[in-house]
Amino acid sequence: MKHEQIEKSVPLLVILTLAVVIWGGLLEIVPLFFQKSTTTPVEGTKPYDAVRLAGRDIYIREGCYNCHSQMIRPFRAETERYGHYSVAGEYVYDHPFQWGSKRTGPDLHRVGGRYSDEWQRAHLINPRDVVPESNMPAFPWLAANKAKDTVGADIEKKMQVMRTYANVRGLPTYSDEEIQKAKETIGDKTELDVLVAYLQGLGTALKNVK
Ligand code: HEC
Repeated sequence: MKHEQIEKSVPLLVILTLAVVIWGGLLEIVPLFFQKSTTTPVEGTKPYDAVRLAGRDIYIREGCYNCHSQMIRPFRAETERYGHYSVAGEYVYDHPFQWGSKRTGPDLHRVGGRYSDEWQRAHLINPRDVVPESNMPAFPWLAANKAKDTVGADIEKKMQVMRTYANVRGLPTYSDEEIQKAKETIGDKTELDVLVAYLQGLGTALKNVK
C-alpha cells in the first residue's frame, strides 16, 4: 500500500495511527508489570496497619491530596527540600495511590518524622498556631470524632480487600489475627490520632538514604 493512499483516507489513517499508538503504549507499559524495581516493595515498606489505614482514609476523605502531592521528583530542587526522590516500590500498598497533581502545600511523601506528633496535631487543628503565614484550612473536627465510628467502622473489610490486592501480587500482608484485632487496635483513637499516625509513617522506608 502506498503512503499516499493512507494519507488520503481518513478512516485508514485513524485506524493505522491507533494501531501504532497502542503498540507503542504496550511496549512501554507492559514491561513495568514485570520489572523488579516497580513491583517489589522497597526494604522497610510494610502494609499499613489498621490505625494508619484508617488515617489514610481520613486523608482521602478530607481531600488533602487536592493541595499535597506524595511524589518527589528526581530533581535537585526537590531532593534538597524533601529528601530522597520517590520510587515505585514505595507505593506497593497504596490503593488508591495518593500521588496528587497539585502542590498548594508542600509534598508530603517524606513528611513522616519531620515534625513531632504534637506539632502535627496543633497544625491540623489550626495551622496558623504553628505556621502564622499558612493558608491551609483548619480541621478541628478531627479531634472530636472517634475513628471507630467513621473510617474504622468497616476496617476489617478494608483490610481484607487490601489483603486480596497483596495476594494477587505475592506481597507480605495481614494475618487473620491482625484483621480480627483491627477494631481493638484502633480502640478509642480520634480521627486526628489516626491521621497523625498515617502522616508519621509516610516515606520513612527511604528516609535516611541520600
Ligand atoms: C487548600 C490547600 C490545603 C489543604 C486542603 C490541605 N493543606 Fe496541608 N498545607 C497547605 C499549605 C499551603 C501548607 C504550607 C503552610 C503550612 O505549613 O501550614 C501545608 C502544610 C502541610 C503540612 C506541613 C508540611 C511540611 O513539610 O512543612 C502537613 C503535614 C500538611 N499540610 C498536612 C495536611 C493534611 C493531612 C491535610 C488534610 C487533612 C491537608 N494538609 C490539607 C495547604 C493545604
